Amino acid sequence: MSDTIHPISAEFLRQTHLTEPQYRQLYERSIKDPQNFWSEQAQKFVTWFKPWDEVCSGDLEKLNTGWFKNAKLNAAYNCLDRHLEKRAKQTAIIWEGDDPKETRHITYAELHSEVSRFANVLKKQHIKKGDRVCIYLPMIPEAVVAMLACARIGAIHSVVFGGFSADSLKARINDADCQLVITANEGLRGGKTIPLKQNVDEALMDCRQVRSVIVVKRTANEVSWTEGRDAWYQDLMAQAESQCPPEMIDAEDPLFVLYTSGSTGQPKGILHSTGGYLVYAAITHHYIFDYHDGEIFWCTADVGWITGHTYAVYGPLLNGATTLIFEGVPHYPDFSRYWNVIDKYKVNIFYTAPTAIRALRREGNDWVTRTQRESLKLLGTVGEPISADVWEWYYTVVGNSRCPIVDTWWQTETGGILLSPLPGATPLKPGSAAWPFFGVVAAIVDDKGNEVADNQMGKLIIRQPWPGMLQTVYKNRERFVAAYFAEFPGKYLTGDDARRDNEGYFWITGRNDDVIKIAGHRIGTGEVESAILQHPSVSEAAVVEVPDAIKGHSIYAFVTPKSGIKPTDALKNELIKKVRTHIGAVATIGYVQWADALPKTRSGKIMRRLLRKIANNDLNELGDVSTLADPDVVDNLINNRLPIEE
Ligand code: WTA
Repeated sequence: MSDTIHPISAEFLRQTHLTEPQYRQLYERSIKDPQNFWSEQAQKFVTWFKPWDEVCSGDLEKLNTGWFKNAKLNAAYNCLDRHLEKRAKQTAIIWEGDDPKETRHITYAELHSEVSRFANVLKKQHIKKGDRVCIYLPMIPEAVVAMLACARIGAIHSVVFGGFSADSLKARINDADCQLVITANEGLRGGKTIPLKQNVDEALMDCRQVRSVIVVKRTANEVSWTEGRDAWYQDLMAQAESQCPPEMIDAEDPLFVLYTSGSTGQPKGILHSTGGYLVYAAITHHYIFDYHDGEIFWCTADVGWITGHTYAVYGPLLNGATTLIFEGVPHYPDFSRYWNVIDKYKVNIFYTAPTAIRALRREGNDWVTRTQRESLKLLGTVGEPISADVWEWYYTVVGNSRCPIVDTWWQTETGGILLSPLPGATPLKPGSAAWPFFGVVAAIVDDKGNEVADNQMGKLIIRQPWPGMLQTVYKNRERFVAAYFAEFPGKYLTGDDARRDNEGYFWITGRNDDVIKIAGHRIGTGEVESAILQHPSVSEAAVVEVPDAIKGHSIYAFVTPKSGIKPTDALKNELIKKVRTHIGAVATIGYVQWADALPKTRSGKIMRRLLRKIANNDLNELGDVSTLADPDVVDNLINNRLPIEE
């Protein structure tokens, strides 16, 4: 990794919110005096119906932390109502459809009225405060309307990414015990339709508690209909009142649950609070993207992921920004799509994932350079490490060597960005997520939890609570404690490996647990294995990650067929299909290596660490294999290893 430093341009320094000394001073304060620091920020960024008794209570040792105790507020009020005086006619959402000819501009006044009407629709469907509502929609304005309508009445939204399968959807609906599902007849991406309603119908065969399904008519195609359960969004909205006073919500009442993969078991429902989450979403959006009034902000993430929640919806709307919601994909109708959209709407801030940048870089510079991109002032990345060469391409070709890049590190659990440069305040090192944000005390520790020296690799942990921190795993406090606080009690375990250099810059290398990032999407190896094991011909399976030039990582599966079953290409394709139907297209297996047996300890545990080394052809230090029940197994696997296309 390079340690080149890109200084901050004079142009950027003139307009930035913070300079380096100001950042350092504020950071010190945020750590030494969190109560006063967060009290001031909470008043600056959020409007409260009733103030708090205590800003930050409890600690990570006892795991009883809370933010803004007994305060009252409403997320939709903060995103909409309070802006109306000044911004009623300002565009809140620019929507760019999959087809470039389809576009919508929705003002703050219009969005406020849509959200209020839909909140009334939800009430009519007997949804009340604390109920869970599943949102399974494409990237259309109705997704934002649905989220904010839930927030307005205090219902907890659970958005499920439209790329997840019926099985995944079912598991999420049941775990959160959702009573209502909002979907579209079909989604549209890259000119192809996605059978969302059909997936819902399939999922609901095993979700008896769901009483109603609200369907947005996105395409003209017919879908099957269950009378008494299904209703068109457009019909319900036509009958709804546009006045709906916002509910008084406790700061510690949950705003949403969002499912994400962990190292073990099925995806867990990450629960976020209302008060702490909103303060953190707003302040990070303001400083990290150096957001100024009137700017057009585009986060390309789908609302089905945390990045879409915090930086396509809540962060920008809290700050009264214009947020661009894009339904399509970067390569349709051609590889200039992102850059054409930037020119079309004069986008100022563009935030995307390294996987998209790598894919577009591969197609050559012409697709970029034939566009103007003059409106851009800042670029951002998120979701996986960005290598220095990809960073430089993004900086020079996309940003014309003019726009700082914020490489933002965070997680579904953290609610908002924890590590990032602050444009204007941080000299940039390509490939580094730079410094901690206000209130974030990050450290690198060894396996015993002791802090390591500068530049030593170790596990990234967070020592103090921050307002955006998850509250718990939905209905599963044990899992919450086990996943994040069991290894080093009193500290939040991120699951990432990293080092910190002698100038305090963090360099994240990737996950150190059984979570894989594929094209920026988070997949648990356990989920993939259990999907493979559902196939009747499979006896055992273990899944590891291998590098992929575009997607960052790819899935490499070791599979042992049942005795008497021939390992054929047809079976391999069935397994790939099985995983796609069980999880979704995001979990497409790249490699299947047939294995007579898998390496196990004498107690019968599959040695995944060893398999990871074999798949990655990292054979020099296989470590101690003396604990293996049958050491020959390893030679066999090495000899049959599949070549990785990097
Ligand atoms: C990875 C996405 C390197 C990391 C917001 C983390 C990153 C996981 C970066 C969380 C980055 C995210 N550099 N790695 N800038 N940002 N990651 O929950 O492994 O989908 O633990 O949240 O993404 O993924 P999640």
